[in-house]
Amino acid sequence: MSVLLLGRGGLLGSCLVSHLSGSVELVAPTRNEVDAESAEAVAAALERFRPAYLINCTGFLNVDRCEQNPALSFQGNFLTAANVARTIAQVLPNCHLIHFSSDFVFDGHRGNYVESALPSPLSVYGIHKFMADEFVARTLPATHYILRTASVLGISDLKGNFLRAMLTKVSRGENLRVNDTLKVSMATTEFIAQGLIAIMREAPPAGAYNLVAEGVLSWFEMLRYSCLHLGVTPSFGRAEIDEYPNAALRPRNSYLNLVKLRTTLPTLSRVWQDVLDEHLDSHRFYTDLFK
Ligand SMILES: NC(=O)c1ccc[n+]([C@@H]2O[C@H](COP(=O)([O-])OP(=O)(O)OC[C@H]3O[C@@H](n4cnc5c(N)ncnc54)[C@H](OP(=O)(O)O)[C@@H]3O)[C@@H](O)[C@H]2O)c1
Repeated sequence: MSVLLLGRGGLLGSCLVSHLSGSVELVAPTRNEVDAESAEAVAAALERFRPAYLINCTGFLNVDRCEQNPALSFQGNFLTAANVARTIAQVLPNCHLIHFSSDFVFDGHRGNYVESALPSPLSVYGIHKFMADEFVARTLPATHYILRTASVLGISDLKGNFLRAMLTKVSRGENLRVNDTLKVSMATTEFIAQGLIAIMREAPPAGAYNLVAEGVLSWFEMLRYSCLHLGVTPSFGRAEIDEYPNAALRPRNSYLNLVKLRTTLPTLSRVWQDVLDEHLDSHRFYTDLFK
């Protein structure tokens, strides 16, 4: 099965290139080779590789910079995704688009969001992700998957992640307080790769799917659990989100409901502790930090 992946320079894209390479026939051009904003470049790649799936991992993720510079966010989170969807519709309409969405499309007032819950984003990033989701669903009604994910952990030479940064500080003995206010879902790039393989093999109906591990946690709980897993005594305190004002508002309870994932692709129903164990055990980076 041939798969074209765009956005290989990012956290998710770079990790997926290594997780998926043995399982599918993967072509993953760099941004210089295929700029996802360019209709000509995307059309040429579709015509050349004729992929069954295009996995779009592009985006502009810095939510505070998105707030300060909405034009950059519009370009990176909406225009690029819209261009990819429109070009597929015009050039290779049988190609399925896999597009990533975010828990930031919700305001976080109540949590447990099903796929059909009405978005009400608090941030510029969330607005542009929501707009992209809508555009993708309307442009490719029968051939899109919108995978809504959250707090993704991955180990890449190109980009860091929250846990990696925090564990590095713990290993240096830095005095830390970690957010315990936001209640989130989490995923790892390994888990997302398993989700992609399941979707490409089993071809469930087009539409939106929440793709995160089961359960709700805070970043404090994620770090505490990771320390215990690695045999390190947690030595940091709890912080409230309001102590660190950010340009962009974050949803407080953005965790996602997994009933649809559980019923459609039951092998992906895994608790966050199990998914995090797998991640921590898969990367020597983590154990090496505490040698
Ligand atoms: N990370 C998370 O926790 C999370 C959670 C929910 C949803 N998501 C979604 O998952 C997707 C991937 O996120 P990520 O964490 O991997 O983000 P990331 O690390 O910031 O990577 C995004 C990548 O997209 C590339 N890119 C942007 N515009 C492009 C273009 N026109 N052509 C080609 N490449 C382009 C960027 O290139 P440069 O390196 O040149 O800037 C960057 O390498 C995004 O849609 C994001 O909204 C992520």
